[in-house]
Amino acid sequence: MAKSILVGKKPTNYEVKISKNPISKKDILSAIKTHNKVLIITDNGVPIKYIQNIKKLLRGSIKTYFLTLPSGEKSKSFKSLKLILENLASLKFDRTDCVIALGGGMVGDISGFASSTYLRGIDFIQIPTTLLAMVDSSVGGKTAINIPEGKNLVGAFYNPKKVFISLDYLKTLSEKEYKSGLGEVVKYSFILNKKLFKILKENSNLILSRNVNILENIVYESILTKAKIVTKDEKESGIRALLNFGHTFGHAIEAKNNYKNISHGEAVVLGMAIASQISYLENLLSKKDLLKINKLINALELNTNYKDYKYSDLKPYLMNDKKVAKGKLNLILLKSVGAAFKTDKFKQTNLSKAFKL
Ligand SMILES: NC(=O)c1ccc[n+]([C@@H]2O[C@H](COP(=O)([O-])OP(=O)(O)OC[C@H]3O[C@@H](n4cnc5c(N)ncnc54)[C@H](O)[C@@H]3O)[C@@H](O)[C@H]2O)c1
Repeated sequence: MAKSILVGKKPTNYEVKISKNPISKKDILSAIKTHNKVLIITDNGVPIKYIQNIKKLLRGSIKTYFLTLPSGEKSKSFKSLKLILENLASLKFDRTDCVIALGGGMVGDISGFASSTYLRGIDFIQIPTTLLAMVDSSVGGKTAINIPEGKNLVGAFYNPKKVFISLDYLKTLSEKEYKSGLGEVVKYSFILNKKLFKILKENSNLILSRNVNILENIVYESILTKAKIVTKDEKESGIRALLNFGHTFGHAIEAKNNYKNISHGEAVVLGMAIASQISYLENLLSKKDLLKINKLINALELNTNYKDYKYSDLKPYLMNDKKVAKGKLNLILLKSVGAAFKTDKFKQTNLSKAFKL
């Protein structure tokens, strides 16, 4: 039986459906039954069999077009946005038509943004194919492209009509991309979801071998956590900041590396290890909880060794962070496993101290 989670506030709330099986004809046809044409946007790193399978499911039911972008973050650009919008216009898409994003967060973010701007908004459906896109980017309505001045600087909050998650897609995902998504799963367990923490702790081997029953559980719990947060705070004015746990230092590490050699997920895991250490130094988090956190990250074979970085090297990037308000850096820290909060009240000395232990 597929699991289902409702996300967002009426009238733009939407269902996220999680299934262990490949996406079914019945599901996809029911989601597009009011539409006349669909444009499926994907990238050339998504295995071709997934694209062919969707083609087969839609054959004879609806006019279907495909647009394949080059894979990689570089495609989340004005150039690709222009290409998508020109395709929609030349194919004479109108508001009775629909876009389907079939791919990871890159495809989801740019397809969602294009859908939000074309004719001031046409329907779009997310079919995430990476773990990160399943547990994070396909849920919550954030869409964006990058510009030379910064990542995700141009975008919109725009909810999809539906999100179909098929865990079957994870079979072909590279180890690096799988671990990148796992970092976000772990994050939900640290900030809010103690039940998820327990599942992760007790099943690390099954998770590493991509056991589909455990995957269904952890993907469901992750989305439940994200759904709870983004439904309360759709436009990021409060509690949604908790989702940035580990991201302030993670972004600084990515920027220091010029966005090369380290994935977003890997950088966030390092950032979570740093933020946990600071929480301990601030006397918020007990030694026992700090050890529990590090033990879990290590059991999932995620790298927590941030000692290659110096605080002085990351500091300039930290002050560029979106979380700097009125010149003060805000951090998401932990009081215990499953209890995060946002604060600008911490000892500056503890930031540098965290790198020296
Ligand atoms: N909107 C949000 O809330 C949000 C949240 C987090 C991240 N993001 C964005 O998500 C993007 C990163 O997403 P990502 O980590 O999914 O990366 P990605 O979309 O670049 O995909 C990673 C790689 O995996 C390949 N791939 C996709 N599905 C596959 C499959 N099933 N099997 C094998 N290979 C597959 C892709 O072709 C690509 O080469 C970034 O642009 C980031 O800014 C957005």
